[in-house]
Amino acid sequence: MSKHLTIAVDGPASSGKSTVAKAVANRLGLTYIDTGAMYRSVTLYALQSDVDLDDEVAVARLLDNTTITLEDGKMGQEVWLNNTEVTEAIRQEDVTRHVSLISSYRTVREKLVEQQRQMAEAKDVIMDGRDIGTVVLPNATQKFFLKASAEERARRRTDEYKQKGIQAEYEQVLADIQARDQYDSNRAISPLKKPHDAIVIDTTTMTIDEVVEAIIQNIQKN
Ligand code: CDP
Ligand code: CDP
Repeated sequence: MSKHLTIAVDGPASSGKSTVAKAVANRLGLTYIDTGAMYRSVTLYALQSDVDLDDEVAVARLLDNTTITLEDGKMGQEVWLNNTEVTEAIRQEDVTRHVSLISSYRTVREKLVEQQRQMAEAKDVIMDGRDIGTVVLPNATQKFFLKASAEERARRRTDEYKQKGIQAEYEQVLADIQARDQYDSNRAISPLKKPHDAIVIDTTTMTIDEVVEAIIQNIQKN
């Protein structure tokens, strides 16, 4: 077991994981690790490299010469792929549409999970994703599972796109979220599921601050 504090946060798309985990990290002095950004980076690289995305062996081979790093920048967490900053590029629609396929590959997951465990060995972390409490850090100090209705999650994501000036239709965002939920929850390897020992927080009617407070209170109680 890691001698460091390890907080696992899992849940479906737009349940609030990254926003809340970043805030908890700032308040408690933990390092925030966004594992979704790592799967997104591999997906971006696969799209740029022009490999057949259905070819698991070819996609996995890309990882042999890929370095993904998460760094604390002035504007928040920066994601670097082979010495190029990809913080914004990994959020583009093409990546979002293909990331669930790439993250269903065993070989891809094995490599990234190994890196994630090494990160948690090095410092106190709060890590978010889909399989953190179940697979990456089964002995985490504390585990949280955030959920919210698909409609509320689609509303949040649509608002977020609009704030960034990205055109988005609520119905399409809802359909994309439901498709990703379905794919992530039903894949053979490390599907999204609630760890049996996680604290479940339904964020549907909660503000970000309320969720942050609930998590911090639970960590401090422990
Ligand atoms: O932020 P958003 O909810 O859109 O997703 P994300 O956390 O950036 O993750 C993108 C995708 O990566 C998910 O839909 C999963 O397919 C995959 N993922 C995963 O399989 N395992 C993780 N630990 C994290 C993300
Ligand atoms: O990381 P994940 O995909 O789970 O969600 P997120 O990116 O942290 O949150 C998606 C959007 O919902 C962001 O724009 C948050 O500001 C917003 N949000 C919210 O409105 N209320 C919450 N309780 C949590 C997040």
